[in-house]
Amino acid sequence: MIKTRFTEAFGVEHPIVQGGMQWVGRAELVAAVANAGALGMITALTQPTPEDLTKEIARCRDLTDKPFGVNLTILPAIKPPPYAEYRQAIIEAGVKVVETAGNKPQEHVDEFKKAGVKVLHKCTSVRHALSAERMGVDGISIDGFECAGHPGEDDTPGLILIPAAADKIKVPMIASGGFADARGLVAALALGADGINMGTRFMCTKESPIHQAVKEKIVSNDERSTDLIFRTMRNTSRVARNAVSQQVIALEKQGATFEQVKELVAGARGKMVYVNGDTDEGVWSAGQVQGLIHDIPSCAELVSRIVRDAEAIIRARLESMLSGGARQAAE
Ligand SMILES: Cc1cc2nc3c(=O)[nH]c(=O)nc-3n(C[C@H](O)[C@H](O)[C@H](O)COP(=O)(O)O)c2cc1C
Repeated sequence: MIKTRFTEAFGVEHPIVQGGMQWVGRAELVAAVANAGALGMITALTQPTPEDLTKEIARCRDLTDKPFGVNLTILPAIKPPPYAEYRQAIIEAGVKVVETAGNKPQEHVDEFKKAGVKVLHKCTSVRHALSAERMGVDGISIDGFECAGHPGEDDTPGLILIPAAADKIKVPMIASGGFADARGLVAALALGADGINMGTRFMCTKESPIHQAVKEKIVSNDERSTDLIFRTMRNTSRVARNAVSQQVIALEKQGATFEQVKELVAGARGKMVYVNGDTDEGVWSAGQVQGLIHDIPSCAELVSRIVRDAEAIIRARLESMLSGGARQAAE
C-alpha cells in the first residue's frame, strides 16, 4: 500500500485518479476505477443536462459502493452550459469530491466548500495552482505539457512543472499528464507529488465505454501520435494525430479562424469516433503517453499492477541502489 497526503485527504485507497474525460468518463468506467481502489471522475458535461448527470451518478452508485467524484470543466464558451445547475446536481447527489478544470473556479469552489465537497483543481501552471490554492481548493492536479486535452500555452513538461509546483503548493498535489505505469507513479512521488492522475491510460481499459477500435489504435500509436490543434488561437488542445487534426493544422497555418474549422472539430463529430470506431471521423483527445500503452487491461488489473510494481521499484530497484546492490537487483 502506498499512503500519501492525497490518499489520506481524499479517502482513497491508492494514489491514482482517473481525470474527467469528455464522452469517456461515464458510470461504467468510473465505477470500475472506484472498485479498483482509485478515484474515478464522472464527466459532468458528457451528460446533456444536469438531470441526466443526476441519473448517471445514481447509475454509478448501482455499480460501486466505493467513493467516486465528478469532473466539472469550465471552459469559455459562446453559449456556456448551465454550470451552476450542474454544480447543484453534484451537491444534491451527495458526491464528496469534484475535479474542477478550466477557468477560474472561485464561485464553484465557494459553493462546493459550503456543501462539504472536496475540490481537486486541475491546472497547467504553478501560478494557476497558487491562485486555486488561495481560493481554498483541497488539492491540485498539476497537468504537464504531455497531457491529453488542454495543456495550456506555457509548454512546461511534467519533469519541470511537477517539482516547480511541489516547491510552492501546500495542499496535496497529484501529477498529471504522461502517466501510465508504476515508473511514472514512483517518478511523480520522487518529484514531490502525492499521486498521479491518468486520462489516456484509463481510456484504454476494458471498462472504458468507447469502441474497441479506438483502444486498439491507442495501443498501436506511439509517443509521436498526437497533434496540438488551436495553437494559433491560444486554446491549445492535444489530440490523437489523424486525418482531421492534420487538416485543422494545415488550415491554421493558412490563418484560418475558429469559424472556419468549427465543423471539423465539432464535439458531436468527435463523439462519433468513440461510437463507430472510425478514428479519422473527428478529433479525439489522447496524450503522448500512448507510447507507453501496450495493452487493454481491466481497471482492476491496471491499478493493482501499477501499485504492485511501484512497491517493487521502491523496495528493490531504488533501495538496492542505496545499499550498493544495484547489479544484484538487475540480475
Ligand atoms: C478523451 C479525453 C477527454 C478528456 N476530456 C477532459 C474534460 O472534459 N475535462 C478535463 O478536465 N480534462 C479532460 N481530459 C484530460 C484528462 O482529465 C487528463 O487531465 C489528461 O488526460 C492527463 O493526461 P494523460 O492523458 O497523459 O494521462 C480528457 C482526456 C482525454 C484522454
